[in-house]
Amino acid sequence: MSEITTQVAIIGGGPSGLLLSQLLHRQGIASVVLERQTRDYVLGRIRAGVLERGFVELMREAGCAGRMEAEGEVHHGVYLAHQGRMDRVDLAAAANGATVMVYGQTEVTRDLYAAREAMGGTVIHLADKVQPQELKSDKPFVTYEKDGETHRVNCDFIIGADGFHGVSRKSIPADVLREYEKVYPFGWLGVLSETKPASPELIYARHERGFALCSMRSQVLSRYYIQVPLTDNVEDWSDDAFWSELKARLPQEVAEGLQTGPSIEKSIAPLRSFVAEPMRYGQLFLAGDAAHIVPPTGAKGLNSAASDIYYLYHGLRDHYQNGDSAGLDSYSEKALARVWKAERFSWWMTNLLHRFPDMSEADLRLQCADLDYLFSSEAAQASMAENYVGLPY
Ligand code: APR
Ligand code: PHB
Repeated sequence: MSEITTQVAIIGGGPSGLLLSQLLHRQGIASVVLERQTRDYVLGRIRAGVLERGFVELMREAGCAGRMEAEGEVHHGVYLAHQGRMDRVDLAAAANGATVMVYGQTEVTRDLYAAREAMGGTVIHLADKVQPQELKSDKPFVTYEKDGETHRVNCDFIIGADGFHGVSRKSIPADVLREYEKVYPFGWLGVLSETKPASPELIYARHERGFALCSMRSQVLSRYYIQVPLTDNVEDWSDDAFWSELKARLPQEVAEGLQTGPSIEKSIAPLRSFVAEPMRYGQLFLAGDAAHIVPPTGAKGLNSAASDIYYLYHGLRDHYQNGDSAGLDSYSEKALARVWKAERFSWWMTNLLHRFPDMSEADLRLQCADLDYLFSSEAAQASMAENYVGLPY
């Protein structure tokens, strides 16, 4: 069995694991990233693309902001379409000048891989049967199999950044781990198309036929979503059917100006709110999707992962540079406090904008009243805006 020794073993080569490894490396803290899939597989996954101000700052601190700042779009507002009208939340005005960056998660991950490579970081792909061990000892380690051989990584700390289906959360004993979950009775059918975006800013649409979202990756690459029953299959939806249903859910002037084209990616994603507690067990620390999932309505998935990484990065830096473990000891509590706020906002946006199968006339009126309140109250818009641009870390 081959053995390597590092300071921090990171399970999962998605945006969470790579961002932490990059930030630590710039502070002279060594890490090894173990990823089950190939790099191309990881980069092949289409995910969201709205970055909070805190995430943008972290990418700058990681020395990975160049392409994001050159190719990303800074958005100062967001539209909500409802009852045949379109209202804009001026994020910058309502949240003290704060904005969001529209830049695809795939591009973020690509930039992080390039940065790891440029610094000679260790990212081991096709690491199979990864298993964190001795979590309660001061000498934990991780084993994995590759090329038919078993390998061992000795470390001080293990970071479980291996997503919802990873091994890390499952390594926490059942009598310690508490899981909280809401599964929503619908999914999002998403389409990526090489077309001009429907609008210069995102449009979240509430419609009696169901929710719709107009987003983008650039001025020539658009991303659209419509709410569909969980029983639907992507094969049920031709491109034409998708475009006509999307148009039916958008205000007339937007629908008339909508540029359509062949989908280059089309998939259905379920919606779930999920939180696992605690986010630390011995020397194992969970981060990102390994510990929490949000419905995508609030664009908080990647951004909540980033706040976990912010707290972990500072905790590990204080530990190695100042011998101070306060940050690590309060990691789970601090990370969960911000995660639950992101869960609340994402749940609120989902309830505000989606059509639930069992909604009564009263429910529908309450949804409209919630929207009317939002657009008649600066306080309500300030609350929505500060959550959308990202609460302070
Ligand atoms: N061993 C090694 N790697 C694993 C294992 C395992 N047992 N299980 C999963 N992985 C890898 C996956 O292949 C994936 O590349 O861990 C990585 C986890 O990455 P993500 O799922 O992207 O999770 P995270 O990095 O926390 O990013 C969160 O991703 O899903 C979006 O909406 C979510 O935007 C959020 C972001
Ligand atoms: C996306 O661009 O894919 C996107 C944007 C905002 C969301 C969800 C997804 O809330």
